[in-house]
Amino acid sequence: MIEIKDIEKSFDGVKVLKGVSAVFETGKTNLIIGQSGSGKTVLMKSLVGLVRPEHGEILYDGRDLLKLDREQLRHLRTEIGMLFQGSALFDSETVLGNVEFPIMMYTKMTDAERRERARFCLERVGLKGADDKYPSEISGGMQKRVAIARAIALNPKYLFCDEPNSGLDPKTSILIDELLSDITHEYGITTVINTHDMNSVLGIGENIIFINKGYREWVGNKDLIYETTNEALSNFVFATDLFQKVKQYVLSHGHPMKG
Ligand SMILES: Nc1ncnc2c1ncn2[C@@H]1O[C@H](COP(=O)(O)OP(=O)(O)OP(=O)(O)O)[C@@H](O)[C@H]1O
Ligand SMILES: [Mg+2]
Repeated sequence: MIEIKDIEKSFDGVKVLKGVSAVFETGKTNLIIGQSGSGKTVLMKSLVGLVRPEHGEILYDGRDLLKLDREQLRHLRTEIGMLFQGSALFDSETVLGNVEFPIMMYTKMTDAERRERARFCLERVGLKGADDKYPSEISGGMQKRVAIARAIALNPKYLFCDEPNSGLDPKTSILIDELLSDITHEYGITTVINTHDMNSVLGIGENIIFINKGYREWVGNKDLIYETTNEALSNFVFATDLFQKVKQYVLSHGHPMKG
């Protein structure tokens, strides 16, 4: 579990995060949602230590990220997997090389062990036989899978994904969502996903944190979201005709996937 308390972050005197508190639960897909510019990426970067907030606590199962020394931080890094906007693979490395990279950086595994672990991860994300290809030779969806394989290479306790679906078609997006959700449950990972994809919100939102203008305005899940009385959230999630219709249907008939 990761708990954040009263996080504040400004850039050039402008406050972007205005006292955000939240809990990201173990073994669940925790979604941070909000409009473009609301502060999702800044919040995620704060969570992983790439941005230093001026105020607040970031507790990784009780360990405050902002108070760790170098050695403790290095150790925590080995427990974190990351998937940033775009897949950010190393173009000059093969698929296998990309997944082997963090293992090489952070463990003392032998070459053979490392290769075996990387192959296992690639297989887990449904990528077999692509080991020797270069990122430029595979599709965007496959690149995401490689990035996920790389992110889980060290068997992370915590997994962070910033807009994992950006640039993917709706069907591929759902497959990537399902993969992230399956991995989260299978390995009991505390997974945090930034998204403004409504399919993801309504599909895998087990714990949803809504950020609006730097404030955490709502917490809930994909079932509760239909009943929200928060106007900003409602306007954000049910902005299109299609999602309005889905909402009306669910409110009058109950959830089609249940009972
Ligand atoms: N390094 C920085 N320096 C100055 N301002 C920044 C910096 N990083 C982010 N900001 C500002 O912080 C605000 C929040 O940005 P952020 O990238 O977190 O939004 P977001 O919710 O992730 O948006 P999107 O959905 O488009 O990715 C924006 O106004 C942005 O301009
Ligand atoms: Mg962002």
